[in-house]
Amino acid sequence: MNLLEIPMNDDGLITESISRLNKLYNGSLLYSIPSFHNPTGILMSKTKREELIRICKKERLPIIEDDAYGDLWLDKKKPNPLKAIDDQGLVLYLGSMSKTLGPGLRIGWIVGPEPVIHRLADIKMQMDYGASSISQFVVAEWLSSGLYEEHIQKVRNELKSRRDFTVQILNKYYKEFADWKIPQGGFYIWLHIKKQISMHKLFKHSLKENILINPGYIYDRNDQHHLRLSYSYASLEQLEKGLMRLSQLIASATIKVK
Ligand SMILES: Cc1ncc(COP(=O)(O)O)c(C=O)c1O
Repeated sequence: MNLLEIPMNDDGLITESISRLNKLYNGSLLYSIPSFHNPTGILMSKTKREELIRICKKERLPIIEDDAYGDLWLDKKKPNPLKAIDDQGLVLYLGSMSKTLGPGLRIGWIVGPEPVIHRLADIKMQMDYGASSISQFVVAEWLSSGLYEEHIQKVRNELKSRRDFTVQILNKYYKEFADWKIPQGGFYIWLHIKKQISMHKLFKHSLKENILINPGYIYDRNDQHHLRLSYSYASLEQLEKGLMRLSQLIASATIKVK
């Protein structure tokens, strides 16, 4: 695969760059995570979604819409998926149980034109003989019985208090040398470190203290200014302890660039 990145701003992909890039590189498809993007947490606005569909229609560029985090809105319902405004079968829509029920189930779904689905089903068959029938029955039961709706509400409440707690911790320890946007859903805060530091050194020093960080260079090899923080898994105590210690490491001289 030849991957090309499309720049983003606060409300999603910068759609103006798509036509130019497509002309230059003759793209085959566009991949996007419009809701609570991993790693930045960005939510694409309704207007941007409409604009994206309009441009991709014009460019005849199919879209993979990865909506793994879509149900995890925390403050207000997110705009409809791109698929909901796709009247030409341009969008392949992906959902997953991994972020809501559990990644071990290995259950996700896809919505798209029937011939494409048949082709993908055949490829999946050849790759792994298909997803476990037991997992599929479990998910079907959750969805049809109403358990999923009940569960997702609990997950949202829990995530919301964890997000608010993490933001409080950031306000306490990080204000001087970092900034961030408060995510409206999903798992992540994309922390921007304003100081010049060596992320590789920070990674090594943190690991020595049993803190595993997720630096921006995992997503963009030139990025030396971001950390992806997840508030979804660690306990509140671990979050506070880890973030406090990490702030001390960032403030210390040991992780200077040279
Ligand atoms: C945007 C996005 N899509 C998909 C996945 C993985 O989903 P699955 O476990 O269903 O393969 C992740 C997990 O990190 C993700 O962040």
